Amino acid sequence: MAAYETVGVVGLGTMGAGIAEVFARAGLAVIGVEADPAALERGRGHVQRSTGRAVSRGRLTEAERDEIIGRVTFAGSLEDLHEADLVVEAIPEVMGLKRALFTELDRLCKPETVLATNTSSLPVTAIAATTGRPGRVVGMHFFNPAPVMRLVEVVGTVVTEDGVAEDVAALARRLGKTPVRVGDRAGFVVNRLLLGYLNHAAALLERGVASRDDIDAAMRAGAGLPMGPFALLDLIGLDTSREICEVLFQETRDRVHAPAPILRELAAAGLLGRKSGRGFHAYDGAGRDTPGTAPGGEPFAGTVGVLGEGAEAFAARLADAGVATAGPRDAGLVVALSPAPVVQHAAGLPHPERLVGLHLVGEEVAEVVSTALTSPGTAEAARRLVRGLGLTPVACADRAGFVVDALLLPYINDAVRMYDSGYASAEDIDAAMRLGCGYPAGPLETLDAIGLRNARDGLRALYDEYREPSFAPAPLLDRLVTAGVTSVRSR
Ligand code: 3HC
Repeated sequence: MAAYETVGVVGLGTMGAGIAEVFARAGLAVIGVEADPAALERGRGHVQRSTGRAVSRGRLTEAERDEIIGRVTFAGSLEDLHEADLVVEAIPEVMGLKRALFTELDRLCKPETVLATNTSSLPVTAIAATTGRPGRVVGMHFFNPAPVMRLVEVVGTVVTEDGVAEDVAALARRLGKTPVRVGDRAGFVVNRLLLGYLNHAAALLERGVASRDDIDAAMRAGAGLPMGPFALLDLIGLDTSREICEVLFQETRDRVHAPAPILRELAAAGLLGRKSGRGFHAYDGAGRDTPGTAPGGEPFAGTVGVLGEGAEAFAARLADAGVATAGPRDAGLVVALSPAPVVQHAAGLPHPERLVGLHLVGEEVAEVVSTALTSPGTAEAARRLVRGLGLTPVACADRAGFVVDALLLPYINDAVRMYDSGYASAEDIDAAMRLGCGYPAGPLETLDAIGLRNARDGLRALYDEYREPSFAPAPLLDRLVTAGVTSVRSR
């Protein structure tokens, strides 16, 4: 087994500087290279700030921080990498740049040095082919923020020499990370599943299904994710996100991977997310989101009529909260507890403008669905009602899946397809999403919790509404439901 003691990192942007910090924290000697002096200083600043933050949170002492920074040599030339046992490249996602760099690294590094790319989605095989040592070129894909996220995808190719991927996986473990070994496919496991979801969130925003803040809140409070999709797109960077989508689209030719126009537009305008101070959200100098105005706190007043499945239990909940109920024909606000289209309940109501849909998601969120007939006053009254029940309201349009299911189910469907293709095991897919993105559960675990039949039926409804071919239930999911199987993971 190879012992990596000196490692190089080329490119000290957000990811490269984070990777350099991770190596230095694990006791390795690190040579961080940036050709441009200003970028080199930014990289140094990044490591200083990140370790400084750990000191202020009591995670590191000043002395430990000095030791960590002391292990990193900030260098301006690739020639300094001659002694490195392993070099990780973290430069922009431009194939031409990567190929030129690897040709150069191949010339300058010792013959036994392993060359690794932190590419998000570009083909590792094509990068390896530019060197005279394709068997010693792998992907070593970290997740942002690199010091925090516990996953490393180790990407081997058809020409990787025996033992190289194993050694890099062992190194990842030494860094305190969990390696998942995968083959060379666009997006690997995580980005392949994540970017389709993020891009679809941008498409829902663009179609006016819900607002930025409502979609972010829905996925945080409703699906338990650490960040909403727009906050996460801003963290990844809108330029990087757009590039990954482009690469995925080239491979899949699936419209859900074609970058949403809003993503292209923001990226083209230089609104790249956190790193430029503004993307979907705006950030202050310390990188914190600058929130919009807080919702008004006026309590709901009036009577509520309840329709649909579970109406009785919900009416009882309203009564417990001190809300007066009335028949749907007389109530000031009518809520329908049913899937889209909610508007079907409008027929026969004397005041269809008083109707909203209400979809409870988990314990914390209620999607408040406006139909084509709902008046703005009704939607606002429903939001106040929901807040009064201690729930987060998510305002959305009357579309299949509303917000949470519309985003979660296609992502789960993609995970079932990935599993069925044999690319990764159920355990690896779940672990990758938990450790790479901080999800509370992996997609196949979430599928079990939702129920295979519910997921399949939800996907059918989504497909009927949006007509996206990839929203049609994965054949495996369909077959398992037919066979009465209750878990993909137990197969
Ligand atoms: N650098 C270093 N450390 C950081 C950090 C950063 N940029 N941001 C947060 N941290 C640390 C904090 O210091 C804190 O450490 P501590 O627990 O030791 O005190 C810890 O992370 C938690 O931070 P906060 O309390 O400030 O904030 P949150 O609890 O809100 O967590 C988060 C922030 C870790 C970013 C969390 O929101 C999260 O897990 N988000 C999901 C991120 C994600 O999905 N990443 C993957 C993106 S895909 C990718 O990178 C692939 C690429 O190819 C595109």
